[in-house]
Amino acid sequence: MGNRRKFIRTAGLATLGAMSLPQMLKGRAKQYSGGPGNESSIPLVLSTWQHGLAANQAAWNVLSRHGSALDAVENGVMQTEADPGGQSVGLGGLPDRDGKVTLDACIMDHFGNCGSVCFLEGILHPVSVARLIMEQTPHVMLAGAGAQKFALENGFKITELLTGKSRKEWENWKRKSMYQPVINIENHDTIGMIALDEQGNLAGACTTSGIAFKMHGRVGDSPIIGAGLYVDGEIGAAVATGHGEMVMKTLGSFLVVENMRRGSSPLKACEEAVKRITEKVKDYEKGQVGFLAMDTKGNYGAYSIHKGFNFAIRNQEENELIDSESYLP
Ligand code: GLY
Repeated sequence: MGNRRKFIRTAGLATLGAMSLPQMLKGRAKQYSGGPGNESSIPLVLSTWQHGLAANQAAWNVLSRHGSALDAVENGVMQTEADPGGQSVGLGGLPDRDGKVTLDACIMDHFGNCGSVCFLEGILHPVSVARLIMEQTPHVMLAGAGAQKFALENGFKITELLTGKSRKEWENWKRKSMYQPVINIENHDTIGMIALDEQGNLAGACTTSGIAFKMHGRVGDSPIIGAGLYVDGEIGAAVATGHGEMVMKTLGSFLVVENMRRGSSPLKACEEAVKRITEKVKDYEKGQVGFLAMDTKGNYGAYSIHKGFNFAIRNQEENELIDSESYLP
């Protein structure tokens, strides 16, 4: 409640008389001037890549019924986790070089609470395990067998995540690759989602099976709070997608939020974080990273190393994919 009051005060809406809070927020014009597609009404959900459209719809089903951003992002990315067609997240994810599907996920709320799992096998909804860690344990992150034990103790069931299609692709890869993991810019489209609910609360979630045919035991940026995802209820939220090692080396999502804290728009903040990668990470042009961010008013932006990164937006008026700006053509 305290937070809600604060949001109303900050937004300067307390004097608008008989309108409900959702009406007031929805009708408010955004101040973002970073280019087309960067203004939005609240509630609002954004997520990375094309599979974000279906995930956003699942999140929107929560937000449009006055639900919380936290429930929305969990529900949203669960849709992708359960979709066998998405080969970089959850069920159907491409395995590591040993043929194991290992999962990374995290979730973070408006108030800085967060939970995370990494190197988790056989659980359909790692994001929900991450949320349970956040809400039921004194810890932030559980890994591998410990994370799976925790999940099973809390009612999750073992699910075979390796589909026939992904197994076949792994077998083809093994024949050609001589077991060498490679950096590629195709097989890493993590879903990251950030949302702002009608109460003015932010939340984010991130979930992935990681880079295809990675070394067994490899963990990427997605479950690392500050790398794959960061939320600060006073400032904004950011998620990363793409080549996790580059994001981890620059703590990308935290950097985006800190850039916004220093006054950058969400678009500029993402651009600055991409530029940091280009300055600090050798061979950055061999990989792809995209950042997606929003501030507490629902202004948003995205920026990637290479052209081709898109993100999905869903609010009352919009339900579409938008191409990000990029450092390289
Ligand atoms: N961004 C996902 C990964 O690198 O695992």
